Amino acid sequence: METLKKRILQEASVISSDVLRLDALLNHQVDPVLTTEMGQQFARLYEGEKITKVVTLESSGIPIAFATAQALGVPLLFARRKKTLIADPESYCERVPSFTQGIVTDIMVSKKFLHDGDRVLFIDDIIANGDAARGLIKIIKRSGAELAGIGVVIEKTFQSGARTLREQGIRVDSLVKIASLDNGTITFA
Ligand code: G4P
Ligand code: NA
Ligand code: NA
Repeated sequence: METLKKRILQEASVISSDVLRLDALLNHQVDPVLTTEMGQQFARLYEGEKITKVVTLESSGIPIAFATAQALGVPLLFARRKKTLIADPESYCERVPSFTQGIVTDIMVSKKFLHDGDRVLFIDDIIANGDAARGLIKIIKRSGAELAGIGVVIEKTFQSGARTLREQGIRVDSLVKIASLDNGTITFA
């Protein structure tokens, strides 16, 4: 997506050689027009894949997943993050480390909303090491649902998340690939 690359160059800033500040586009402020285009692009990529549900993680994945779900005409389900995990037999829970925050969080999906027969498109804003993604994939598998693929807005190709998932045979589509953030410069792949 050329428009997205342009917006990233204009509005994102490099925090360090592995973190990009995306408050203006993904993590704090959201542009409905650009986000709708992202959703339409993911919907095109997964047209004919018989997706029954779009799944994401709160919070930054939600607007993109919403746009995708709207374009596909299916529900959006977002995994909740919990500070303290109360064991709940009605929910699937996984503990995941967080790359940017350096903490662990528990993610949770109610058994009511994900099950056998669902064919899921997992949407996320950015993939780094893939820890959060792996947690949600475990939940999808445990529920009996089928994972059709993962759509991420930004893939940092210098971190291992997307590559590792593809090596496991999982389809991963990214709208923009960033090869490096070295020397304060965004280099697209
Ligand atoms: P991973 O799954 O790819 O390993 O990501 P990880 O869990 O390490 O990421 C934890 C959080 O850090 C995620 O947000 C992810 O979107 C975010 N993140 C990773 N790399 C970058 C980056 O370069 N820039 C920005 N802005 N965010 C990054 P989260 O914890 O899910 O929080 P939320 O934004 O959804 O609330
Ligand atoms: Na995220
Ligand atoms: Na994030």
